Amino acid sequence: MDQAEQRARELLARMTLAEKIGQTVQYGRCEERERQLVAEGRIGSLLNVHGAKKINELQRLAVEQSRLGIPLLIGDDVIHGFRTIFPIPLGEAASWDPEAMEKNARIAAREAAAEGIRWTFAPMVDITRDPRWGRIAESTGEDVYLSSLAAAAKVKGFQSPNESGYPAVAACVKHFAGYGFVEGGRDYDTTDMSERTLRETVLPPFAHGIRAGAMSVMSAFSELNGVPASGSRYLLRDILKEEWAFDGIVVSDWESIEELIHHGYAEDRRDSALKGLAAGVDMDMHSGVYLDHLESIIAEHPEMMELLDDAVLRILKVKFRLGLFENPYVSEDDPEEIGIPAAHLEQARDSARKSIVLLQNDDGILPLDTGRFKKLALIGPLADDRHNTMGCWAWKGRDEDVVTVWDAFQSELAPDTQVFHEPGSGILEELPGGIDRAVDLAGRCDVAVVVVGESEPMTGEHYNVASITLPACQERLIRELKSRTFTPVVVILMNGRPLAAPWLHELADAVIEAWHPGTAAGYAVVDVLTGAHNPSGRLPVTVPRATGQIPMYYNRKNTGRPHLYEDYIDCDDSPLYPFGYGLSYTTFEYADLALDKPVIGKDESANLSVRIRNTGKRAGEETVQLYIRDLVASSTRPVRELKGFSKVFLEPGESRVVHFALGPDELGLLDERMAFTVEPGKFHIWVGPHSEEGLRTELTVI
Ligand code: BGC
Repeated sequence: MDQAEQRARELLARMTLAEKIGQTVQYGRCEERERQLVAEGRIGSLLNVHGAKKINELQRLAVEQSRLGIPLLIGDDVIHGFRTIFPIPLGEAASWDPEAMEKNARIAAREAAAEGIRWTFAPMVDITRDPRWGRIAESTGEDVYLSSLAAAAKVKGFQSPNESGYPAVAACVKHFAGYGFVEGGRDYDTTDMSERTLRETVLPPFAHGIRAGAMSVMSAFSELNGVPASGSRYLLRDILKEEWAFDGIVVSDWESIEELIHHGYAEDRRDSALKGLAAGVDMDMHSGVYLDHLESIIAEHPEMMELLDDAVLRILKVKFRLGLFENPYVSEDDPEEIGIPAAHLEQARDSARKSIVLLQNDDGILPLDTGRFKKLALIGPLADDRHNTMGCWAWKGRDEDVVTVWDAFQSELAPDTQVFHEPGSGILEELPGGIDRAVDLAGRCDVAVVVVGESEPMTGEHYNVASITLPACQERLIRELKSRTFTPVVVILMNGRPLAAPWLHELADAVIEAWHPGTAAGYAVVDVLTGAHNPSGRLPVTVPRATGQIPMYYNRKNTGRPHLYEDYIDCDDSPLYPFGYGLSYTTFEYADLALDKPVIGKDESANLSVRIRNTGKRAGEETVQLYIRDLVASSTRPVRELKGFSKVFLEPGESRVVHFALGPDELGLLDERMAFTVEPGKFHIWVGPHSEEGLRTELTVI
């Protein structure tokens, strides 16, 4: 038992029933009624309250007025930055750089904690294969290996120690579990999946986040196989608390306990509170059902007191572990007025450019040769947009902090190059005369850079689309620029989901996927356009050709009739861009793939090596990807599974040998009873630049 647990137990022993229940109550607003409850020790946590002054004032109510003086745990959705906004999580994932993700989380945690926010509802670790779902923007994509690394990195960053040695903020892996599999990409919808998919694909990123120390878990809105996640003993007690021995807080999603009623799983609010506590939800977010009903429930079911005590203990332990009892207050020097520290902006720029994926570069038009292109036309609705470029969940980000592409064109490219700007179109609607003005400008320039994509409210929670493509007005803008001028068109996409737009890739001379890049958007884009940064991002999701191909993900099964990519009458069923894909301004050659042992025992590891050479004229970074396929197993295996990657930076002509280990962690699978095992047999092993290419070798396990 650590000190936090000991102190929590001592405190618990002194608490009344009402005070215990109070710790399990969280509200997402704080008006007169809630302030009174805080002062009475009947609310333990708040979210959606901001500002150091306000938060200190609320803490004073809890610490100085309530009988036991237990500080509040103040939470917030600090998802990809607080004041400094980093790329959306899907963009961060495209960097394939856990270290950068950790740094971003660390900065976000510092900025939030300065205001008194000591708990973030992040990272979201839901694997999703459906880009119609708006929350794909908040995910790290379709792959379990990449998302597991991202989960651990972000947890470490958020919980990195502050000046007093306590975790800066508590992280929360969410949404447990299965939420990324909602039917039809409709938010909050039903999920239904096999135990195998749950355990192989959905749960591992949670397990990695928890292993990295995540102090909390959020239960999902969705139901899983007939039981709503926020009422699921199987998920919350059997798997999370027993099998994984998780000892942190389980918080419900917003009112998701009360929503058990709509699911047809609870009769009324009281019944929902009973089922939530029984299932293992320790804290009720905002619905008030614990506040209103736990007292009478415990009176009727005294045996449930044990469950309540356990919930309270978990909450108190986190409060002690965060040092809230020692330091409940924060400095009131207004960090808002200090602005964004230079180091935070630099990190935002660096992580945004690392997230950029170069999808197409016909005739090597990029990087832009400013000797050849003297006049640049900057066009498109997102070229000078201070708000939408920050993406979803950026509510503490300020529009005035954002460096747009137009800002960066002026500060970084002019006066050596002449730069001009014309939006040409809105995001969803045409601008009167906009296309004509844009065509006119492009016709007078040497190259047109066109920044198109999605607005912030087209992505994120509840913002789903039936068609994952560019809005019609933006398509028209690009088509007219191409058909009415001879000027090359470089398209920059800023969006929260992969966009199925094959026409765009046929028309454009170059395409850059920048996602919603955040505060330093413009700098990052210009760094890539000029070649100051050689793009190294790789797709964390498959980009389909058409919405109807969804679900589309690289690690599919072979089926009994493996006619890959011939399955639709009206559409080529290959991806527009495969998982892991991304170009560079240089080229890399893979050679000398070798295993030290072609045959290994079940408990052994083999070493794999491959030589990567930079065969182009610029220095650049390659993301060397390792995939396996277990050819015959007791359960059918995907055609490829990512099992490792390594980022190598090489000067022109330089080569390096990259090593990977292949052992039980990489080769194992779950048997019929869901027990981890390594089965004898043959494996294909690829090392390559993405999920559809690479050198192949074979490994046998005996
Ligand atoms: C979302 C959560 C979020 C919560 C609090 C819910 O609607 O699903 O991810 O943490 O609101 O804002």
